[in-house]
Amino acid sequence: MTVHINYKNSAIKKTANNLILFVGDNFDISGVKKVITSSEFSYISELLKNSDLKKDVLFFEINSKRTIFLIPIKKNLIISDIENLGAKFHNYINYDKKSNYIINSDTANSKIENFLGYFLHGLKLKSYEFNIYKSKKKKHVVVIDVIGIKNKISTQNQLRFKALEEGTFFTRDLVSEPGNVLHPDEYAKRLNSLKKNGLKVKIYNTKKLKKLGMNALLGVGQGSVRGSYLVTIEWNGKNKNSKPLAFVGKGVCFDTGGYSLKPAKFMEDMTYDMAGSATVVGLMKNLAIRKAKINAVGVVGLVENMVSGNAQRPGDIVKSYSGKTIEILNTDAEGRLVLADALTFTEKKFKPQFIVDLATLTGAIIVSLGSEYAGLFSNNNKLSKQLLDSGEKVQEKLWRMPLHENYDKLINSKNADMQNINYVGGAGSTTAAQFLQRFILNKTPWAHLDIAGMAFSKYGGALNSGGATGYGVKLLNQLIEDDYE
Ligand code: BES
Ligand code: MN
Ligand code: ZN
Repeated sequence: MTVHINYKNSAIKKTANNLILFVGDNFDISGVKKVITSSEFSYISELLKNSDLKKDVLFFEINSKRTIFLIPIKKNLIISDIENLGAKFHNYINYDKKSNYIINSDTANSKIENFLGYFLHGLKLKSYEFNIYKSKKKKHVVVIDVIGIKNKISTQNQLRFKALEEGTFFTRDLVSEPGNVLHPDEYAKRLNSLKKNGLKVKIYNTKKLKKLGMNALLGVGQGSVRGSYLVTIEWNGKNKNSKPLAFVGKGVCFDTGGYSLKPAKFMEDMTYDMAGSATVVGLMKNLAIRKAKINAVGVVGLVENMVSGNAQRPGDIVKSYSGKTIEILNTDAEGRLVLADALTFTEKKFKPQFIVDLATLTGAIIVSLGSEYAGLFSNNNKLSKQLLDSGEKVQEKLWRMPLHENYDKLINSKNADMQNINYVGGAGSTTAAQFLQRFILNKTPWAHLDIAGMAFSKYGGALNSGGATGYGVKLLNQLIEDDYE
């Protein structure tokens, strides 16, 4: 469903079509007497006597053209409850099948600032669907006019929500695209189009990467008929001297596993193995749309992990951009190879305040945390705390996992400086993170988010209807707003 929200800031028409009203706890409707007709008021009062007042929404069909929805503002709501309420309301209008609604902001009286903004934000996030490849599209377009003169959402806040929605939807679009469409060549092209949003985009193609010595990244992509890329996306919302915040993402457009081939059942999901990069891209788009007052840079490594006569072999040894050599024992542990070069490059070129990387890096993090928390690995307690707090606020939760030098030892190699999988089993997500840490050369505060369990949802969650979730855009935006802007 496509939902358009128009802010009208006009007075309320009593008899306008489908009306959405907020009422008091337990469906106390005394506050809405003025905005509906007296016969509607007595009709609804009568029906409420036999209604389930525990519901989040009740609706009353007045006639074929007019339904009145009542949504109680319960006590002690927090922001995430309000977003979830908006998302639940989406199911009602989806069921209702009407196209035009009016929401009365005058009734949205809550102690929480921007109550109506969060409600509509939740509704909008939940409404996303990816249907561009359905030849018979469900064309359900819903228009919600926001009228009323109290509880206005300032233009600045409207822009903030819009930026988050567009950023998240861009991430979801990229993650949803199949591997035959969004291969590295096409992905790089789409990123180039972000220039129109005021972002500075620089594309390093295979030839340039060879010159730079990014052989860890290039080794992963060498079996593909597509190119391999590193793309930097800069947003400068502050003066030049302010060090940027850096976000790095794994962009494996498809992960077959390479010669360490994945079984069919594990391979079919691997079109979303570029979700880390897509989150970085969506975040940057969001920052540009809302003109964030910070400097930030997104760096993504785009490759396709394929099998061919030219693909990487188990046992190959490559020299990374950092100068460290890596023995590739398993070609399916490819994300860390892409990130290794991207991390060193980012630290060296941008000298950022911190680096946060995101990657669908290990199946092991799904074993540990399922689809409830992403794994957080970090060399810095302050950055960790900030991330944990932001995650709780926006319902994109993180759980901190350990790093330790004893885990680090497990990736030492006989033949090279390190190997890309550990030589004893266990702690697969941590050893992957230890591998990444070896490519942070100058002690920059760094956090790695393993989002393998979060980027895609089969059955949907509070703020998505299933498919690509866009996990991480809201989280990192919150981190920036709360601690760096
Ligand atoms: N992209 C996968 C991780 C993954 C698995 C993401 C399931 C989403 C869902 C990654 O490249 C991978 O294959 N990791 C291996 C590492 C192993 C070879 C050490 C894994 O987790 O099995
Ligand atoms: Mn893999
Ligand atoms: Zn992968």
